Formats: sequence, structure tokens, C-alpha cells
Amino acid sequence: MSLSLFIVLTLLSCVPAYAGNYTDSAHGSSSSGVDRQVIHDLGYSRGNCAHCHEMHASIKGAEPAPAGGAASPYALFAQNFDTTVISGSYAEANNFCFYCHNTTGSAQSVTNYDYSHVFGGATGGESSILDEFNQSSYHNLYDIWNFSRDAFPSWFKDNTNPCDACHNPHIAKRNWYEPQNPLLTAISKPSDHGSLWGDDEDETMKNYSSYYQAPYYYNSNTYEPAGTTSYDGSRVPDYNSFCTDCHNKDNTIFSHNLNRDLRKIDWVTTGNETDGGDKHGKNEATVSLNVRKPFASSSLGITKGFVLSCTDCHEPHGSPNVMLIRREVNGEDLPGDITSNDTVAWANLCGRCHKDDSFYGGTAGEFKYIHHYDKDAPYPGPPMGCCSCHDKDMGGGGMSKPPIKCNYCHFHGGNDRCLLDDSSKPYYPSQYTGRRCF
Ligand code: HEC
Ligand code: HEC
Ligand code: HEC
Ligand code: HEC
Ligand code: HEC
Ligand code: HEC
Ligand code: HEC
Ligand code: HEC
Repeated sequence: MSLSLFIVLTLLSCVPAYAGNYTDSAHGSSSSGVDRQVIHDLGYSRGNCAHCHEMHASIKGAEPAPAGGAASPYALFAQNFDTTVISGSYAEANNFCFYCHNTTGSAQSVTNYDYSHVFGGATGGESSILDEFNQSSYHNLYDIWNFSRDAFPSWFKDNTNPCDACHNPHIAKRNWYEPQNPLLTAISKPSDHGSLWGDDEDETMKNYSSYYQAPYYYNSNTYEPAGTTSYDGSRVPDYNSFCTDCHNKDNTIFSHNLNRDLRKIDWVTTGNETDGGDKHGKNEATVSLNVRKPFASSSLGITKGFVLSCTDCHEPHGSPNVMLIRREVNGEDLPGDITSNDTVAWANLCGRCHKDDSFYGGTAGEFKYIHHYDKDAPYPGPPMGCCSCHDKDMGGGGMSKPPIKCNYCHFHGGNDRCLLDDSSKPYYPSQYTGRRCF
């Protein structure tokens, strides 16, 4: 018997150590928890540990499906994670969790929707965790596994499941069922794996910043996470502290999806344009801000200084857009998918919260006013020599002034430095402002 199997079996026989938390968890629930038919038929009730952990060689004389292979670590009924799978798309056998969190799960099929649906109120979307990961962009499970072994070695081992960097399967709750109740949070912070994250008052977005304004819930004037009048993040787990456990200004994180190290995220440093972090974080927007409701005329009584949550823009698992960008933001679906990083289609995202030209007598989806005519427009006038900026991405040429790919200047930590030093991009040194553009 392997050591881990021995430990599990020993613990299975003294379940009370886990009992309180486990029986309150989504998996341990006797009415909606784990329940594999083959195990159930052997006499184990719903929620029993044996639906995930089994004595490998046999339960009552036979090995329940899925059978075969070497004994799995932790005596799980299948391999925990296949570390030879460097990137998606994923199949059921790649990850233990997918035997259930999959519309066609062979052990027990579980329905789950994405963040835009559950907490944003959007309709549709993929209906299982496996399908969410198999979209245009996704959190790469191999990279998460690899990074977490280095970053959280006290508990994250070679055999640990990458999903469990963010979840603890023994305590995770069922937040989707009551999205307004963070006491039912499904997540655990990687640096605090033994407890839930979001279920204490000091673990909410309101606690992260009193300048958090929840975005609109789908098609309404109510707010995330549940379409109620609560707008201050007191019912939302503090996703910023959660995500920045990994994505902060110090950690170097490699992505196989992007084939490079990720940009570091500075959500905390104040100090405005030059030395500060992102303005969507704690650094404050400067001078004129052109935002839509509910940021405009916010119940918080401020006109700028807002602090956003990562999940206002991002999904945690995967998305039909690049970079895990939500399909629905601030109460409405994006007007179109964002299928590449290098694109003018970022306007689909920005326009959900910022005022496009339609608010100033121009055309929806265009942003000429903000950049050329506003009182703190970065390129007022507009400056002559339009082609130095506008013709870099031409199809149209001459008079058409086609839009410029937003990601030359707008990205985490970015500014308009390309104007100063990259002639393959918009290049116009005298127009350089150095303003923090995100
Ligand atoms: C034997 C089937 C099974 C396996 C294997 C399984 N789950 Fe679950 N999981 C469930 C069921 C059933 C629920 C409850 C679904 C509900 O409440 O609607 C659930 C709920 C959850 C929840 C709480 C959110 C929710 O939908 O209620 C999380 C988080 C979760 N599972 C993560 C995991 C992770 C991570 C793994 C792998 C380490 C895993 N699960 C493996 C069956 C399983
Ligand atoms: C356990 C560490 C960890 C946590 C927590 C974490 N991430 Fe990541 N994230 C990674 C790793 C590793 C990568 C690189 C692999 C990849 O690109 O998917 C990554 C990549 C990303 C990417 C780029 C995805 C792409 O490939 O297009 C985005 C966007 C992202 N994370 C957002 C978030 C958000 C939002 C949260 C919080 C809800 C979060 N992350 C929490 C580890 C983490
Ligand atoms: C939804 C599936 C699931 C259920 C149900 C479940 N476990 Fe686990 N357990 C896991 C996974 C997966 C691991 C491997 C560690 C990891 O990847 O996070 C694990 C690991 C363990 C470990 C090794 C130490 C640790 O915490 O990592 C022990 C002990 C354990 N489980 C005991 C139990 C007991 C006792 C029960 C019932 C009270 C139970 N498990 C129910 C999925 C489950
Ligand atoms: C980078 C962190 C991260 C990783 C990795 C991750 N999740 Fe999640 N997961 C989240 C967050 C954040 C939520 C949204 C909060 C919530 O639903 O309560 C979530 C929600 C869930 C839910 C509940 C969905 C619902 O119905 O609302 C399930 C089930 C789940 N995850 C399973 C998994 C499985 C299985 C994996 C691995 C294949 C995984 N997660 C990997 C962060 C993560
Ligand atoms: C206002 C919307 C918005 C918010 C809020 C937001 N992001 Fe992003 N995020 C984006 C956009 C747009 C991109 C693509 C541009 C880029 O790569 O920076 C992106 C890209 C990323 C990437 C990939 C960076 C790379 O290397 O290209 C990571 C990681 C990430 N975000 C994490 C986070 C985390 C963590 C938070 C919260 C602390 C967060 N984001 C908050 C919009 C947002
Ligand atoms: C979920 C809503 C939301 C989305 C989506 C969003 N923003 Fe913002 N943005 C805000 C809010 C709110 C502020 C104000 C922050 C503050 O008050 O400090 C802001 C501030 C800014 C600022 C600082 C303005 C100044 O005057 O200093 C820039 C630049 C900006 N956003 C660009 C973008 C771009 C580009 C996109 C699309 C890629 C985008 N934003 C998407 C809500 C959003
Ligand atoms: C220093 C760079 C720069 C110069 C020079 C410049 N623009 Fe712009 N312009 C921008 C940026 C940045 C935007 C916002 C992104 C976008 O919409 O293309 C913009 C937006 C526009 C738009 C809206 C495009 C759309 O479809 O969204 C028009 C039209 C426009 N500018 C016309 C002009 C004209 C006419 C000139 C010359 C008289 C000019 N611009 C000079 C940077 C510049
Ligand atoms: C050449 C660099 C550059 C490009 C390309 C660019 N922008 Fe900007 N943008 C800026 C600068 C500089 C600001 C001003 C930041 C500030 O207010 O401090 C800005 C501000 C913004 C704001 C915030 C307005 C506010 O005050 O609320 C939005 C939204 C925005 N841009 C959207 C876009 C979109 C959409 C595109 C692509 C279609 C784009 N930008 C392309 C440089 C650029």
C-alpha cells in the first residue's frame, strides 16, 4: 500500500476530523454532493468520500469504473492530472475533476456556467467546467500546476491537481446557488489553501477598497453578483487579493498559451501617471474620466478613484474572447468577440464602461472624442500628420483614418511609449504623453 493511500484510508476511517466543513461543502452534501452510480450501487451514500477516493484494487471485490492503470496518488479513482498535457484542448482523462465537471462526465455529469452567467446574469454560455476550459482562451492547467509547485510548495505537490491551486475540494461550497452569499464561496486563496476565501468580512471587495463600484447585472439597473441593490462589493469575494496571490508585480509567470512570460500586474501602487500602477486598480484616474453608469453618478458619491475587480473584466476558467475576457461586462454582452490580442476590437470591451463617440454626437464603437477633443485629450486637435498614427494599420488609406489597434498603448502597465520609440507602430515623438493607459 502506498503511503498516500495509507494516509487516505486512515483518514477515511476517522472522518469526523473533516466532518463539519466537509459535510457543509458542495461535494460532501448529502442532497447534491458527489454521487457516482457505481459507488452508490455498492452502498455508499451521496457525499461519501468514496465517490472520489477508493481502495484501488477493489471495493467489495471489483474495481469500479473507470478501472485500470497504476494506483493513482491519493487513492483517487483516476489519475489526478496528466502532466504530459502541456496545453488544451482538454479531454476527460486529462484531469480527475473532468470525470464529473463535464457535460458528458462518465463518473457523474455536473452542470456549471461561467462567471458572466452565474454572477453577471448573462444567458447561455458553456455549461460545464471542461467546456469552459476548451474555449479560445483559458487558464493553462499545466502552467498553473508548474507555477504553483514553485510558488506554494508548502502544500502544492507534484501530484496536486492544478484546479486545487484555486479550490479546495474538501471545503468548496456552492456559490452559484445563492450568488449573493459569499459565505458559500467556492474558492480558496492559493496561499491559504486550508480555508475558504470570501467568507469573512475582511475578504470581500468592499474590504479591498471602499471605492469598489459593482457593475450592472445583465439587462438591469441592479448590480452584480446577484441582481440586487447591493453595489459596494460587500457580497463579492475579494478577487483582487485572490488573483494577485499569483499575478502581482513580483512573480514571473510563464504562459505556454502566449509563449512568453506574462506582464506583471500592479494593482496597488498609487502615484498617478509615471510611477503608479494600473488606474483600474488603486492608482487614480487623472483629470477627465469618461465613464458610463453605474460609474457615472455612482452611489459611492465619487467621480473618480474607482478600483475595479479582476472579475469585472475576466473569467477565471476560459472565454470565447482572448485573455479570459468576459463575454458580458457591465450589464450587456460585448457587441462582438475579441479574437486576437492585436486588434481594434478591444473597443468592444472598453465601450462597455467608457463613453464612445455616440455619447458625443458621433459613431458608436469609435473613440475619437476621448483622444482628440476631450478637455484632457492626449492628442488634441487632432494633430496634423494623421498618418503617423492612423496609417500604420491601414487597409483604407488616405482620408479614412482607420482606427488604431488599441493594444499599442492600452494594456496592464502600459502607456503610449510606442509613439516615442517604435516606428513600426504609431510613431510621433512630440505627441508622447507618458500617461498610464490602463
Ligand atoms: C465524483 C464527481 C466529482 C468529482 C470527481 C469532482 N466534483 Fe466537484 N462537484 C461535484 C458535484 C456533484 C458538485 C455539486 C454540484 C452542485 O452543487 O450543483 C460539485 C461541486 C464543486 C464545486 C462547488 C461549486 C458548485 O458547482 O457547486 C467546486 C469548486 C468543485 N466541485 C470543484 C471540483 C474540483 C476542483 C474537482 C477535482 C479536484 C472536483 N470538483 C471533482 C462532483 C464532482
Ligand atoms: C495559482 C496561480 C494563479 C491564480 C490564483 C490566477 N492565475 Fe491567472 N495565470 C496563472 C498562470 C500560471 C498563467 C499562465 C498560463 C496561461 O496563460 O493560462 C495565467 C494566465 C492568466 C491570463 C492570461 C491567459 C491567456 O493565456 O490568455 C489571464 C488573463 C489571467 N491569468 C487572469 C487571472 C485572473 C483574472 C485571476 C483571478 C480570478 C487569476 N488569473 C488567478 C496563474 C494564476
Ligand atoms: C470531489 C472529490 C473528493 C472528495 C469527495 C474527497 N476528496 Fe480527498 N482529495 C481529493 C483530491 C483531488 C485530493 C488530492 C490533492 C489535491 O489534488 O488537491 C485529495 C486528497 C486527500 C487527502 C490527502 C491530503 C490533502 O488534503 O491533500 C486526504 C487525507 C483526503 N483527500 C481525505 C478525504 C476525506 C476524508 C474525504 C471525505 C471526508 C475526502 N477526501 C473527499 C478529492 C476528493
Ligand atoms: C485561477 C484560479 C482557478 C482555477 C485554476 C480553477 N478555478 Fe474554478 N473557479 C475559480 C473562480 C474565481 C470561480 C468563480 C467563483 C465561484 O464560482 O464561486 C470558480 C468557479 C468554479 C466552479 C463553480 C462554477 C459555478 O457553477 O459557479 C467550479 C465547479 C469550478 N470552479 C471547478 C474548477 C475545476 C474543475 C477546475 C480545474 C479544471 C478549476 N475550477 C480551476 C477559480 C479557478
Ligand atoms: C478593465 C478591464 C480589466 C480589469 C479590471 C483587469 N484586466 Fe487583466 N486584462 C485586461 C485586458 C484588456 C487584457 C489584455 C491586454 C494585456 O495583455 O494587458 C488583460 C490581460 C491580463 C493578463 C495577461 C497579461 C499579458 O501578459 O498580456 C493577466 C495575467 C491579467 N489580465 C490579469 C488581471 C488581474 C490579476 C486583474 C485584477 C488584479 C485584472 N487582470 C484586471 C482587462 C482587465
Ligand atoms: C468594467 C468597466 C471598465 C472596462 C471594461 C474598462 N474600463 Fe477603463 N476605467 C473604468 C473605470 C471605472 C475607470 C476609473 C478608474 C479610477 O477612477 O481611478 C477607468 C479608467 C481608465 C483609464 C484612466 C483614465 C484617466 O483619465 O486617467 C483609462 C486610460 C482606461 N480606463 C482605459 C480603458 C480601456 C482602453 C479599456 C478597454 C481595453 C477599458 N478602460 C475598459 C472602467 C472600465
Ligand atoms: C498621435 C497619434 C494620432 C494622430 C497624429 C492622430 N490621431 Fe486620430 N486617433 C488617435 C488615437 C489613439 C485614436 C483612438 C483609437 C482609434 O479609434 O483609432 C484616434 C481616433 C481617431 C478617429 C476615430 C477612429 C475610429 O474609427 O474609431 C478619427 C476619425 C481620427 N482619430 C481622426 C484623426 C485625424 C483626422 C487626424 C489628423 C488630423 C488624426 N486623427 C491624428 C491617435 C492619433
Ligand atoms: C497611441 C496610443 C493609443 C492608442 C493606439 C489608443 N489609445 Fe486610448 N488612450 C490613449 C491615451 C494616452 C489616453 C489617455 C489616458 C489618460 O486619460 O490619462 C487614452 C484614453 C483612453 C480611454 C479612457 C478615456 C476616459 O477618460 O475615460 C479609453 C476608453 C480609450 N483610450 C480607448 C481606446 C480604444 C478603444 C482604442 C483602440 C480602438 C485606443 N484607445 C487606442 C492612448 C491610445
